[in-house]
Amino acid sequence: MANTNYRDTYARSLEQREDFWLEASTAVTWTKPPVAALDDSAAPLYRWFPKATLNTAYNALDRHVEAGRGDQTALIFDSAMLGIKRSYTYSELTGLVARFAGVLRSQGVGKGDRVVIYMPMIPEAAIAMLATARLGAVHSVVFGGFAPKELAARIDDAGPSAIVTASGGIEPSRHVEYLPAVAEALALSGAGALPVIVKSREGFAASLEDFPGWLDWDQTMEQAFPAAPEDVAATDPLYILYTSGTTGTPKGVVRDNGGHAVALSWTMANIYDIGPGDVMWTASDVGWVVGHSYIVYGPLLAGATTLLYEGKPVGTPDAGAFWRVVQDHKVNVLFTAPTALRAIRKADPQAAELARYDISSLRTLFAAGERLDTETYRWAGAVLGVPVVDHWWQTETGWAICANPRGLEDLPFKPGSPTVPMPGYALTIVDGTGAPVEVGEEGNIVLGLPLPPGTLTTLWQNDDRYVSSYLAAFEGSYATGDSGYQDADGYVFVMGRTDDIINVAGHRLSTGAIEQVIASHPAVAECAVIGVADPLKGQRASGYVVLKAGADSDEAELVRELVALVRKNIGPVADFKHATVVQALPKTRSGKILRKTMRQIADGDEYVVPSTIEDPEVIGQLLGVLRPDGAA
Ligand code: COA
Ligand code: AMP
Repeated sequence: MANTNYRDTYARSLEQREDFWLEASTAVTWTKPPVAALDDSAAPLYRWFPKATLNTAYNALDRHVEAGRGDQTALIFDSAMLGIKRSYTYSELTGLVARFAGVLRSQGVGKGDRVVIYMPMIPEAAIAMLATARLGAVHSVVFGGFAPKELAARIDDAGPSAIVTASGGIEPSRHVEYLPAVAEALALSGAGALPVIVKSREGFAASLEDFPGWLDWDQTMEQAFPAAPEDVAATDPLYILYTSGTTGTPKGVVRDNGGHAVALSWTMANIYDIGPGDVMWTASDVGWVVGHSYIVYGPLLAGATTLLYEGKPVGTPDAGAFWRVVQDHKVNVLFTAPTALRAIRKADPQAAELARYDISSLRTLFAAGERLDTETYRWAGAVLGVPVVDHWWQTETGWAICANPRGLEDLPFKPGSPTVPMPGYALTIVDGTGAPVEVGEEGNIVLGLPLPPGTLTTLWQNDDRYVSSYLAAFEGSYATGDSGYQDADGYVFVMGRTDDIINVAGHRLSTGAIEQVIASHPAVAECAVIGVADPLKGQRASGYVVLKAGADSDEAELVRELVALVRKNIGPVADFKHATVVQALPKTRSGKILRKTMRQIADGDEYVVPSTIEDPEVIGQLLGVLRPDGAA
């Protein structure tokens, strides 16, 4: 980059957008390099690097081998669950990915076809993603904590040509059986018969023999011919990743090939300060966007070593697990969710476990997924003795909207702030009418169009929903759905969602989707689910239900049934464990449930009862329920 300080770089990214991103695009190896950066001919739908071609998997793997770095470690697998450590050089990983691409091709997968990947945290998950990309096909990874019904909804929307899965995932308390879940999802979906490729793992009740016709990963790999990388247009989709919207129907965020490779490459150098020879460990899951960007693609595009960890921050076996991994694999950058840090701090407040390990390789800790509260920020900085970088982003953006770009300039930190907007994000804070607010005043955080490369280009086969969900509220801008403010130094403070999305242990959930499930119970007349503050998980979903007249369910039994129903329909990831029967829900005269007021009461915040409330007495009735300490 010509500019080496943040302020100039940011200004240039907006003022000379094309030049900025064309320059950044030189970090990528193209089969046809871009001559133009932005295609705005279909605005407000934008495309980056029109007419250019490349292959993302080639950029993540082969080119490093061709550059003579085939013997360097590309991927380390560390399973705290099984006590296994294994590493793959760039040559080995390239070979496996090419071979698995051959497997997919032999099952009829070609350019543009979708492949649904429902995998635990094992190397084969990354191999399947990269192999799909190698063929120019489109992967859609579904997190293992989702129930069959959610998997079925994603299969129906993506219309895959194949499914890749494994026997299951290992949670500390149980083995999660994936094969029956996939079978149920296929039965629920309208997909018909599809090739299902299974990586078998030991210790699971269900095996391949129970599912005639499904294919064994190892066997198919033995028979396959390696496939070469397919050329795709920069604007072709690389993946679809479903995320919670405000309704029960998940949104299929579409990521392109070219913009994604350029943007992630830029972030590796400029935000994470990671290059060849460095080790980056992102303690997330490949089912989340953080896992896509920084377990799989980012570190490999940069020619660094990435680490895939099967385990938890605590209990596998103790609160020293993360520090053990940092020591064993000489991790330079660790990226995790604040909830994981809170879990470690709760179990080991004095960081006694840390003293057992040498973590001198660690340069920086990054956190995202939810707000990094200042106490956890201070604790982590004090015990680790390294900079702690909160950065804010979303599944939709694929990379940080705000960060402290450590590779560009070490900006001062302000606790509670993810620092400043990253290049290409024309961030402003506006009121409900779209007018900019004063410095320091809270409002809607919006991003002027076009969004930078690497962000979503649309929702899968649903341009209209993309426009109505994100681009309609504030003309010319993308609505992030987050509220916050910017101080006089330009630092952004993200305060929370303005919609019905909640964040439980760094997992994004829709309260609307949980409400839909609860409302399907025969005894429930209506319900509201809100996210209430939780000291460990940031938020937890709490349900309030009004029973149908005449329903005489025992409350404890009803709550058990509702908890089971949510687990069955959405999955354990919803972590739904709290429901309360109430006489009535507070509503406006037009029938809108006052969820925000309920949340403010439950969190002990000051609350505002809108003048449009239908029956003010309901608030009085709810006070004792929402605020069990009774404080008004
Ligand atoms: N497959 C199946 N089930 C899963 C799962 C997966 N991949 N991941 C979580 N679950 C289950 C858990 O087993 C648990 O089930 P239970 O109700 O039977 O106990 C439930 O989902 C809730 O899990 P979780 O919210 O993770 O709570 P926990 O108490 O098991 O663990 C933490 C708490 C803080 C240790 C854990 O949430 C954590 O590590 N969070 C970090 C999350 C993260 O990295 N997010 C990525 C965003 S950057
Ligand atoms: P997800 O799409 O799962 O990454 O969730 C995105 C949402 O998580 C954002 O819209 C925010 O509400 C929240 N979020 C993620 N990172 C941060 C952060 N660093 N600070 C505050 N909120 C965050």
